[in-house]
Amino acid sequence: MNFHIMTLFPEMVMQGLNTSIIGRAMDKGLINIEAVNIRDYAYNKHNKVDDYIYGGGAGMLMQAEPVYLCYEAVKNRIESGESDENSVSNNASAGDDSKAESNTASERIAISEDDISTEINGERRLRVVYLTPQGEVFSQKKAEELAKEEELILLCGHYEGIDERVLEEIVTDNISIGDYVLTGGELPAMIVVDAVSRLIPGVLNNDVSAEFESFNEGLLEYPQYSRPEVWHDKKVPEVLLSGHHANVDKWRHEQAIQRTKERRPDLYDRYAADSKD
Ligand code: ADE
Repeated sequence: MNFHIMTLFPEMVMQGLNTSIIGRAMDKGLINIEAVNIRDYAYNKHNKVDDYIYGGGAGMLMQAEPVYLCYEAVKNRIESGESDENSVSNNASAGDDSKAESNTASERIAISEDDISTEINGERRLRVVYLTPQGEVFSQKKAEELAKEEELILLCGHYEGIDERVLEEIVTDNISIGDYVLTGGELPAMIVVDAVSRLIPGVLNNDVSAEFESFNEGLLEYPQYSRPEVWHDKKVPEVLLSGHHANVDKWRHEQAIQRTKERRPDLYDRYAADSKD
């Protein structure tokens, strides 16, 4: 899967994603991430990309044209299969054999007709996610939906946001990572890339772990323990040492229900309603 992050801070994004599991996934060529600097598409000699807001108001707004030109450049490259020499990406570090490991979205997950929500006149539209506190709150379900894409463009705003007219033209999804306001869309974009990438086969060492964890089945994950058996006078629950798999599964399920009830009553109510169905 290929991520294209449109941002004023490409280094920040790449540095944040270059380590650990996502870094290894990039090295293996399971995912590609390029960060494209919107400032490279400024159309004035000062490389300015923001301006005052019509009607007044504090702060500056990112202008439509640089964002649009940046998007057009990314789109053209995707359509022609070329890469951008100016963008910061992991392409250079992925070896030749990485391509062999890379799998297409349609190979990974069969896309049903219902999944194709971004069509215009029957043609599939490039998915462009704008990170904004005014978006739909990001969820595991949304991550699963986005993981079906072959190409995903993420647009990070700064200052007071981006001129509405370009958003109307290019954005297919507005995503918020929660009801609070950050200084820009970079951290939210990194969160989306992380949550989507780990769903791609091969990215996690243990493929089952993406399935059996918090939010699958709509429940939070049960408590887990590792060695030693006793720590600060706290003993690992007996059932987990019993080797009796059915009892372990039952205990974990009960714990997941109890934990969800206590910590996320909203999730528990939904789970209880779904279970009744
Ligand atoms: N940009 C600023 N705050 C944000 C948030 N909460 N979610 C997504 N993008 C943002």
